[in-house]
Amino acid sequence: MKIWAIIASLALASLPVRAETVLITGSNRGLGLELATQYAADGWNVIATARSPADDAALQDLAAKYETVRIETLDVTDHGQVDALATQLRGTPIDVLINNAGVLGNPNIQRLGNLDFSIAHQLFETNTLGPLKISDAFLEHVASSKTKKIMNISSIVGSITLTGGNIYFYRASKTALNMVMRNFAKDTANRDIIVGMIHPGVVDTDMSAPFDIPKVSVQESATGVRNVIDWYSRETSGSFMQYTGEPMAW
Ligand SMILES: NC(=O)c1ccc[n+]([C@@H]2O[C@H](COP(=O)([O-])OP(=O)(O)OC[C@H]3O[C@@H](n4cnc5c(N)ncnc54)[C@H](OP(=O)(O)O)[C@@H]3O)[C@@H](O)[C@H]2O)c1
Repeated sequence: MKIWAIIASLALASLPVRAETVLITGSNRGLGLELATQYAADGWNVIATARSPADDAALQDLAAKYETVRIETLDVTDHGQVDALATQLRGTPIDVLINNAGVLGNPNIQRLGNLDFSIAHQLFETNTLGPLKISDAFLEHVASSKTKKIMNISSIVGSITLTGGNIYFYRASKTALNMVMRNFAKDTANRDIIVGMIHPGVVDTDMSAPFDIPKVSVQESATGVRNVIDWYSRETSGSFMQYTGEPMAW
């Protein structure tokens, strides 16, 4: 090897490798907080967003523990706030954008004979339109990164094949999320963006509290979700997966 090549390779080896950056919505509790915790522990830069972070002790503790955790205020239904944050972060590559924030709403007002249509708007704005707005607003940040992934926490209850009745609005908002993001995958494939929709399991968080069914721990779910995020590639972009790594029926 020529002397200049040896010097160049030594110089490159001494350069710090840029840590990857993940942006997570709804990172103040539940699955979002655990994802932020695990990514931070693995040395990632974490942009942890929440709608009222000043009140979130666990998230503040996480940022105090890891200087790589940066907290930003973001209500996913506030498009002005989404655009402002995208502008503020212009020039920051985001390797993995995780649309995690979500609302279930009261299941009792999402069943036949007792449908309260007034909550449907909140569910669609949070679970479907928020992720679309954020993914569009942060497209350049993701496109300028090394990893280029937009990952969406979807749900088995959005599966048309497996539907079991009730929770009309929540189900429909997750089915619509899948359509919106599959479409997004098609439109951005020419920019090498990788899009995923992941069912995280029935996770033991505040959201699943109304349901007396077997649940996985938030740690197990987040670990599985992260493995699936790693698994996604250009070839598998646009697919719907479970946190276990198995495909999810549409
Ligand atoms: N738990 C399950 O069994 C399960 C199963 C399938 C899919 N999922 C999905 O997994 C994701 C995480 O849910 P989780 O179980 O962790 O529920 P969770 O404990 O209820 O947490 C929901 C998170 O979303 C945030 N959020 C809600 N509306 C928001 C808004 N407008 N702007 C910003 N953040 C908002 C909440 O923030 P606040 O604290 O401010 O309310 C909270 O951080 C959701 O997309 C959910 O649909 C959950």
